[in-house]
Amino acid sequence: MSDSFYITTPIYYVNDAPHLGHAYTTVAADVVTRYRRLMGQDAFFLTGVDEHGQKVMRAAAARDMTPQAHCDDLAEPYKALWERLDIRYDDFIRTTEPRHQQVVQQILQRLYDEGQIYKQSYEGWYSTSAEKFWTEKDLVDGKCPDSGQPVEWISEENYFFKMSQYQQQLIDTIEQNPGFLRPESRRNEVLGYLKKELGDLCISRPKARMNWGIELPFDADYVTYVWFDALANYISAIGYTADDERFDRYWPANVHLVGKDILTTHSVYWSTMLFALGLPVADCLYAHGWWTVEGQKMSKSIGNVVNPHLLIDAYGSDAVRYFLMREIAFGADGDFSHRAFQLRYNAELVNDLGNLAHRSLSMTERWLGAVVPGRPQPTSSDVALEAMAREVCQQFADAMDALQFKAAYGALNELVNAGNKYVDTEAPWALNREGRRERLETVLRNSLEICRICAVLLSPVCPIKAAELLSKLGIDGTPDTEKIWRFDGLETGHAVASGDPLFPRMKELPEVIQQALEAMEAAPKAAPAKKKQKKKESVVSEESTEVTPLIEYDDFAKVALRAGHIKTAEKHPKADRLLVLSVDVGEPSPRTIVAGLAEVFAPEDLVDRRVVVVTNLAPRKLRGIESHGMILAAGGGQIEGLVDLPDTVSPGAVIR
Ligand code: MSP
Repeated sequence: MSDSFYITTPIYYVNDAPHLGHAYTTVAADVVTRYRRLMGQDAFFLTGVDEHGQKVMRAAAARDMTPQAHCDDLAEPYKALWERLDIRYDDFIRTTEPRHQQVVQQILQRLYDEGQIYKQSYEGWYSTSAEKFWTEKDLVDGKCPDSGQPVEWISEENYFFKMSQYQQQLIDTIEQNPGFLRPESRRNEVLGYLKKELGDLCISRPKARMNWGIELPFDADYVTYVWFDALANYISAIGYTADDERFDRYWPANVHLVGKDILTTHSVYWSTMLFALGLPVADCLYAHGWWTVEGQKMSKSIGNVVNPHLLIDAYGSDAVRYFLMREIAFGADGDFSHRAFQLRYNAELVNDLGNLAHRSLSMTERWLGAVVPGRPQPTSSDVALEAMAREVCQQFADAMDALQFKAAYGALNELVNAGNKYVDTEAPWALNREGRRERLETVLRNSLEICRICAVLLSPVCPIKAAELLSKLGIDGTPDTEKIWRFDGLETGHAVASGDPLFPRMKELPEVIQQALEAMEAAPKAAPAKKKQKKKESVVSEESTEVTPLIEYDDFAKVALRAGHIKTAEKHPKADRLLVLSVDVGEPSPRTIVAGLAEVFAPEDLVDRRVVVVTNLAPRKLRGIESHGMILAAGGGQIEGLVDLPDTVSPGAVIR
């Protein structure tokens, strides 16, 4: 394994406030970087912002500011959010920095001198709102298909990069390097796109039309911005053309992380730019999926619900990072729901990991003088546990190498569960009662070792909590990561302390989140999430890239579904949208369930119906009444009907 490692995120448009989508990619890059450092590699992590273009220019004018002052102002919220999310980047590139502009100009000059950039008159329907040219057949009712705004016929001269000449080289590169475009489905998508003839790339705009870009060194009447400018950040930041040893050390990058919407621009434009410069492409271009929020597309109407700052205030940065990496497979789309957050947090961080740590440490405190015990004589169950730890560490490493964060942390969770099972089976409380001191020491030592391994594996995603757990275990600073899995990582005789639980249980969603959810529910509904996401800035057309989010069977099995019989129903005294139901789910007394069904059903329509109830949701207070479950209904934003069961099904019957 080479010693150096280089990972990048896209550079984000300054005009957007940083949102969950930006946080997702940046957290993923940070997790990879921390993991690589843990493995002893010299990892370099680049992020930054994309600052040129018409939208920035207009927004600055609207604020009565120069574009530069406007950009200076808007780059800050990104840095501030990364700080709060514990992102440890090595460099933050801004496309208005001289170091970047110089590289872009040098590249342009070189390619122009070599005849790889040429000037040609260009005609087409131009949409100022989308900053794109369209052909006649692209237009919808004579208007821009992206923005719906009027277009104008423009005939102007522009500069073009001879991208078309690299089509075959690009196809060969993708075909010969199976790991280059990931996941696999995206690779096929790009290869499919490359079956059509590749055109040349327009890389300039006349200053008369737009001047907030980088001036072409060979024609002062033109600027370049958007892709040709932005993509070069990956090499300008590490000192391409500047005789910087960082360039020799880190290029080619190991991983470019991008969202699925900007995969084509990266795989086609960026790769061919590199070919033209005679530079190797990155080892891997990984396109991740998109998040929806509470089943809706991210848009103004969801308001604050996933404002990253609100999430950090409510849950803490470690828990947010954990959820983002653990909830959906990297590459697939998925939904950010606060209920799912609460469920996963309580299950894996509080009940599983937090519990293992707390019980192991507090028993050591109580019975073994709060010091790490020795391991006198391992039995076969101890050896089996150590072997499992070894296997999990391997699975974890394989998954992290493949950027499969969900699987990596799934493996960690299995180790935690094995640790808890070991404690249950070995029953240290019985050993203590029976005075079997040696065995008690071995068992607690092994449980503490499992906690140490878990803390180390957890550290890339939850750096603060991992350090807290290590410190409880008597390890300050960086733990030894040589053979993490071995049960001799702790120092016998070192002091340990259980302290407060690592992750406090979340009984109800935090007040700020409940308010944000209520505000979201009150707002007009956004388009249902399943519709195709609007295409983003891209000259090429990108096919729909929806991937149905996949979950593990274990995740599904966590949801307990039972048949319910609605006994009574009445209006909620404080909320027009809600009904308060009493539902028999086969338990000694009926449950109170508060449901958002009042807009579609009168209370009397519901009495005596047999429905499907989710029975293991944590209770939640809705306008003052605690709800103990959820009734399944069909329909997205608008309820279309309940999931009914025949009268023959008795209350409490398990649904699978
Ligand atoms: N400036 C360009 C990138 C240039 S890189 C040389 C850009 N910026 S962006 O700010 O619009 O988007 C940045 C990233 O955010 C993209 O990777 C995009 O996929 C990601 N996301 C935007 N919304 C998202 C979600 N709802 N979910 C996950 N990621 C999303 O494009």
